Amino acid sequence: MRKEPKRPPPRDWPGVIGTAARLTHLARAKERNRNVAPAEAAQHARGKLTARERLTLLLDEDSFVEIDQLRRHQAYGMGMEKRRPPSDGVITGWGRVNGRKVFVFAHDFSVLGGSLGATFAKKIHKVQDLAMLAGAPMIGINDGAGARIQEGVNALAGYGGIFTRNVRASGIIPQISLMAGPCAGGAAYSPALTDFVVMVADIANMFVTGPDVVRAVSGEEVTTEQLGGASVHGRKSGVAQLIARDEKDGIAIVRELLGYLPANSRERPPRRMTTDAADRPCPRLSELVPAEPRKAYDVKHVIREMVDDGEFLEISDRWARNIVCAFAHLDGYAVGIVANQPSVMAGTLNIAAAEKAARFVRTCDTFNIPLVTLVDVPGFLPGTAQEHDGLIRRGAKLLYAYCDASVPRVSVILRKAYGGAYIVMDSKSVGSDFSFAWPTNEVAVMGSQAAVEVIHAKELRASDDPATRRSELVSAYETQLMSPYLCAEQGHVDDVIDPAETRTVLIRTLDVLRDKNAVRPLRKHGNIPL
Ligand code: HXC
Repeated sequence: MRKEPKRPPPRDWPGVIGTAARLTHLARAKERNRNVAPAEAAQHARGKLTARERLTLLLDEDSFVEIDQLRRHQAYGMGMEKRRPPSDGVITGWGRVNGRKVFVFAHDFSVLGGSLGATFAKKIHKVQDLAMLAGAPMIGINDGAGARIQEGVNALAGYGGIFTRNVRASGIIPQISLMAGPCAGGAAYSPALTDFVVMVADIANMFVTGPDVVRAVSGEEVTTEQLGGASVHGRKSGVAQLIARDEKDGIAIVRELLGYLPANSRERPPRRMTTDAADRPCPRLSELVPAEPRKAYDVKHVIREMVDDGEFLEISDRWARNIVCAFAHLDGYAVGIVANQPSVMAGTLNIAAAEKAARFVRTCDTFNIPLVTLVDVPGFLPGTAQEHDGLIRRGAKLLYAYCDASVPRVSVILRKAYGGAYIVMDSKSVGSDFSFAWPTNEVAVMGSQAAVEVIHAKELRASDDPATRRSELVSAYETQLMSPYLCAEQGHVDDVIDPAETRTVLIRTLDVLRDKNAVRPLRKHGNIPL
């Protein structure tokens, strides 16, 4: 008969002793478990902070309440009965950030590489469930090797439970992932399901299969950094929305991000006090945006000029830089800004820009953050590369996101707004509540030169003096079809305003929309093109 492995008694059981001795034992056990010294040496040697040090930095002083500290894994075989550290490689609980409640977990890489077994997973399930019950954000600090190999399918199933909870919480409570170490497999996939991924440069990696597996399968030699470092996910893949210089910076970013978000989707983001006057004129806006339609400029200067105290938090600042997505405040209220960036690819919309902005629009919509869209767009990026990669399907995500958004939506045309790209960029026709133009705007199906070449091709070919005729036709097109006053006459914009008044107009308009209640027909959920 096969001999069952002997289950050891609970590690923390002190035996039969009196109450006073038990209390002393309990205090000692907790002190021992909280002792970071062994983990500290290993983590610091890798240039990283320990899980407890990270939580101390993240949370308000003395606000951390730990749960499941005494939990140990229940796995047998593969030598696991000899390694049963308390907490099982993940610290869980809750605390406060700037006085607001948050739930947290932090992987402890010093325990079996932060790998996830069944008990580790159950601890995370518990805080995920508590965060949902309490309606408070869930913040995960990730530094782990993915499924714990020794625990086999139990570990994989543990991830299944985390993913399910990630998805159930999506759109209800904010979920933020700070990546602070090598994160493989499930440790990368769970963050991908959360609202924000913040990666710490040089120490964080994310990949589904690590370099060893890559080498074994394809022969490709690649380092963890080349495969899934912060520069890869910040610039190329778009997986990470925020890149931190170091861990302290990463934690500061998470705290800042929380300041723009409500505790849950039934609430509004907190109002931030400011001394920046709501009626502050912005005369520099006319200088910052050149009248010449092709001249490049940095739209971030425009954003800085309009928003409270010139402060904003840009999301995905290194990826799809032809569109800018940022959180900011106007009169103390959080807003999400989407702006074409004329200094990168002339501000054209391509697949990456559409996906980046679509995700941002949906994030703002789910967390009751009004949208301000700043339009200066020459059109979609033409070409076979984009079309073959699915510009129609993937570009449609942005269109879908805007059409579906029920938060207050205000758009301002900064300079030119051409074609389908204009319509996508929260035009009134796709549901923006208010749209404003500046007197310097050009709004049309396309720019005047291109339009004249299309509609007057025969006449220009036949002309004795095509150059003169072209310039007459361009001028007629510009006056008859591109004027912002024509848009105002036809109701495509609500008003033509002095650029200097833009901040005041935005604040006034968002104020009137504060209690907007857009009723949508009941449905299971829409079918966004994915
Ligand atoms: C158990 C693991 C482990 C794992 C590492 N360790 N990965 N233990 N399960 N998956 C242990 C090591 O044995 C070592 O233990 C300690 O963690 C540190 O690991 P090192 O390799 O020394 O560290 P480092 O060189 O920094 O490399 C870290 C790493 C690498 C890049 C994460 O360990 C690695 O590639 N591990 C395998 C990753 C992986 O393939 N995971 C499974 C993913 S599948 P000692 O005792 O020596 O300190 C998955 C599926 C989920 O997650 C479902 C998805 C849909």
